[in-house]
Amino acid sequence: MTRRPVIAGNWKMHNDTAESVALVNGIMEGVKDIDKSALPEVVVAPVFTSIPAVSEAIAKCGCGKVALAAQNCYHEVKGAYTGEVSIYMIKEFKADYIIIGHSERRQYFSETDEMVNKKAVAILNAGLTPIICCGESLEQREAGVTDAHIAAQITKALEGIEPSDVAKSVIAYEPIWAIGTGKTCDSVEANRVIKTIRAVVANVAGAGAADKVRILYGGSVNPSTIDEQMAQSDIDGALVGGASLKADSFVDIIKGACKGV
Ligand code: PGA
Repeated sequence: MTRRPVIAGNWKMHNDTAESVALVNGIMEGVKDIDKSALPEVVVAPVFTSIPAVSEAIAKCGCGKVALAAQNCYHEVKGAYTGEVSIYMIKEFKADYIIIGHSERRQYFSETDEMVNKKAVAILNAGLTPIICCGESLEQREAGVTDAHIAAQITKALEGIEPSDVAKSVIAYEPIWAIGTGKTCDSVEANRVIKTIRAVVANVAGAGAADKVRILYGGSVNPSTIDEQMAQSDIDGALVGGASLKADSFVDIIKGACKGV
């Protein structure tokens, strides 16, 4: 089965509104000569405060080549949850994706597998697509518990979700030690872990869903690594941090992924 690749830029807590608009415009300009059908699904995830302006810039361009994501959400629709933003509020700005369970959220904001599961369920119920992150620390890798840790993260994240919804979801394997360090995980090893994730998905949601779910690699992806990553059997694209902050390098990564489309 051919799975349409996804290249998602996680802008983290970078870029004010003007910088965010300039970046998304630069990306759309960079892919303007490539037919939409030849592109991977391109996703950008600005900070919450830039979402309205980036949404407007995407609508103004009208090319339909770049989709919008939030970097987080709360699973309840509304209520007394100071500081949180609900999916329905994100949906107002025509976002299609929400990143959940990023290791920075797990590490600095105590996000648990149970919270990730609640968010995934609520995102899918709202008709959006979760990008569910998982990944091991260096200590876990050295202790030989990578596969068990990731299996536990994904099994919990997908609990109670219908196979048809699992099939629509996106998973990102991001070894924590590879994030922002310049130490990309060896592509063959990343592919092995991603195959393991696919087997876990088959276990919880059936072979059909496992065949359809897109599983990305994330962790120091850059224009010089994308070819090798996309050449692997089970890597369906990339979640990109640092290299998504410049239009040129992000567009080069998108172009690298065009070969897998
Ligand atoms: P990086 O970040 O590409 O800067 O390593 C990836 C991520 O955290 O999603």
